[in-house]
Amino acid sequence: MLTIALSKGRLAEQTIELLEKAGYDCTAAKEKSRKLILEDTKAGLRFIMAKPADVPTYVEYGAADIGVVGKDTLLEEGKQLYEVVDLGFGKCRMCVCGRTELKGNLDAIPNKRVGTKYPNITRKYFEDVKKESVEIIKLNGSVELSPLIGLSEVIVDIVESGRTLKENGLDVLETIADISARVVVNRVSMKMKANEIKPMIESLRTQADLINKKV
Ligand code: PRP
Repeated sequence: MLTIALSKGRLAEQTIELLEKAGYDCTAAKEKSRKLILEDTKAGLRFIMAKPADVPTYVEYGAADIGVVGKDTLLEEGKQLYEVVDLGFGKCRMCVCGRTELKGNLDAIPNKRVGTKYPNITRKYFEDVKKESVEIIKLNGSVELSPLIGLSEVIVDIVESGRTLKENGLDVLETIADISARVVVNRVSMKMKANEIKPMIESLRTQADLINKKV
């Protein structure tokens, strides 16, 4: 039996679709209910419906053998696990954003305050890449509000279509990383359940490559 941690929401739906294309029976996972554990003994699969930010934790501790989660969460959580496939969906960018007039002038702002849901990614980027110390203000959503209301000069956040930025007079100032959904595996499960996990990784990789037209 393999336990798969899914990120509740759109990512879970796309993952189930891909698993089905890869030949896995996901009838249990498609059940419309509020159950958090959906099991199919015949298919040998158990799905747990987790908050995206908790998926790496379930997989690191072995509560789940496999997880599918955004690269943003992996970078932020920094857990000990194997990242094995880039599924190519859930694509977006992690960016430093601010008022449009700051474009090209980011480095000129001294003692910056940065609003973000991602304090670890933000700290690492400013310390390691920009060699700059900034004040990080942790927020839990609607991060774009922060520079508009004067809480911070800039933000570090996900940009997908760019619509939220545009409609609030903000712009991308720098790109930190490209984000997409990744398959992660518990380090012990990878060895102990290799005969179940390895074929799953391979077929997920094949399907992802087909979708992303790499083959
Ligand atoms: C995310 C992100 C941005 C927005 C970007 O927020 O934090 O606010 O989506 O998408 P766009 O570039 O297509 O406009 P989410 O909807 O997850 O809600 P949140 O603000 O509560 O984090």
